[in-house]
Amino acid sequence: MSEKSIMIEAKSPTESIRQAYNLWSWFYAKLVAPLERKPRMLGLERAAIQPQDRVLEVAVGPGVTLLEILKRVNQKNVVYGIDLSPKMLKKARDMVNSAGYTNIDLRESDARQLPYPDNTFDVLYNSYMFDLIQLKDMLVVLSEFRRVLKPGGRLALVNMSKEEGNVLTWWEKFYLRLPARWVPYLMGGCRPVLMKGLVKEAGFCEVRQEFINYIFTSEIVVARKPSM
Ligand SMILES: C[S@@+](CC[C@H](N)C(=O)[O-])C[C@H]1O[C@@H](n2cnc3c(N)ncnc32)[C@H](O)[C@@H]1O
Repeated sequence: MSEKSIMIEAKSPTESIRQAYNLWSWFYAKLVAPLERKPRMLGLERAAIQPQDRVLEVAVGPGVTLLEILKRVNQKNVVYGIDLSPKMLKKARDMVNSAGYTNIDLRESDARQLPYPDNTFDVLYNSYMFDLIQLKDMLVVLSEFRRVLKPGGRLALVNMSKEEGNVLTWWEKFYLRLPARWVPYLMGGCRPVLMKGLVKEAGFCEVRQEFINYIFTSEIVVARKPSM
């Protein structure tokens, strides 16, 4: 059974995600981010960021991982980030600035069309965003990720997931019943996804998957863009 056939479809259009996350920006860092810290940090560890790496974080949210990335690179090395939500970007900028970091380049942008040239980054980190993305757009986004990574560049994805693929979880049952307009506000728009197969399909190599059960199940997928 393909991973795509066992994922439920995302309900929320891009504009409602942007609006909902503008609102979530007020509470996300304090209320939600701590629940996801363990999988996020493991994903970051798997990305094995080196001080000289050029790093892009897609969907920075309130900047909790961005801060950790900044701690791992040289102070003169600029870290790049994008997000759909201007209010999330402001939170992220304020948070890392108040921690003393100014070596950032943050832009409002959509993961489906990244504002960077081909072969730019050594590492691309992305957490809890594919669980909001419609099935038809997943490969579009992964192709963008592959495009902007340098040959040999590393990809690290962390997402809400499930290990028993063909069984609907209580979260999915609730998600399916809730009116679409409420999903981004009450459930953050997130539903479990499985990315390993799609990452392979997008042309990445050395694809590794692991699951971590902490509050809910998360999937970590790391991969590499082929060198040639
Ligand atoms: C659940 S939050 C996760 C934030 C952060 N990555 C973390 O792990 O703490 C999802 C974030 O993805 C952003 N987002 C959703 N769809 C996006 C897209 N197509 N392009 C860029 N950002 C997107 C939202 O604005 C929001 O900030």
